Amino acid sequence: MRILFIGDIFGRPGRTIVRDKLKDLVREHRIDLILANGENAAAGFGITPALAEDLFDLGIDVLTTGNHIWDKREIIDYFASANGDAHSPARRVLRPANYARDLPGTGLYQGTKNDVQYAVLNLQGRVFMASNDDPFRIADELLTRLKEKIIFVDMHAEATSEKVALGWYLDGRVTAMVGTHTHIPTADERVLPGGTAYITDVGMTGPYEGVIGVRKEQIIGRFLNNMPVRFEPATGDTRLCAVVVDADDATGRARSIERIMVS
Ligand SMILES: [Fe+2]
Ligand SMILES: [Fe+2]
Repeated sequence: MRILFIGDIFGRPGRTIVRDKLKDLVREHRIDLILANGENAAAGFGITPALAEDLFDLGIDVLTTGNHIWDKREIIDYFASANGDAHSPARRVLRPANYARDLPGTGLYQGTKNDVQYAVLNLQGRVFMASNDDPFRIADELLTRLKEKIIFVDMHAEATSEKVALGWYLDGRVTAMVGTHTHIPTADERVLPGGTAYITDVGMTGPYEGVIGVRKEQIIGRFLNNMPVRFEPATGDTRLCAVVVDADDATGRARSIERIMVS
């Protein structure tokens, strides 16, 4: 199975470049399964049900998220609308699995694509972020339940150390662990010795003529004077950042991971 994972899709520029480039990427890289982090799809802050379904219509199979998941409150009713249907679009939007158990939504999706069973697990870090449950132990707990060989993990986290540590911790137990959230791609993609494809951050899919997606004047102003400001999405220099993971269906081990940036 060949898996494309697209990093944090940011606002209209991010959604537009996905729409424009996805078909060619899928053909060129012979992709079977398409995953993306959609936490910034709605002008940088959260994702609405309509935007999630637009992304599904483009061919994305599962959307992961992160700390921005509750920014658009409609997502709460959307999660409820899945109503026990394990494959409805609403069930294919994940929130980090290590949030409190009684919160809406879920952090794990189990599906089948091209006759191959797969699972997607969304986790969030705790270093320089809200204090959620332990992502290491929640991963342990969920992985013992899974029978799928192909398991893809999005670790949405700020600290590189926490992501590197989780990569080593999960090595040999999952097909891939990729980092999201910092919006800056890292050049450390590799397959770890146990067969887990790893990258610290996939990078943002959105406008790079800004500061991690936001208009640069607003962020520079914030650093200069610390006054609150309403952040607006940047425009310009839009890039799509992703990785392609090639995995052995029989063992779930990754054969390769390739970093992609297209503009
Ligand atoms: Fe993000
Ligand atoms: Fe984030």
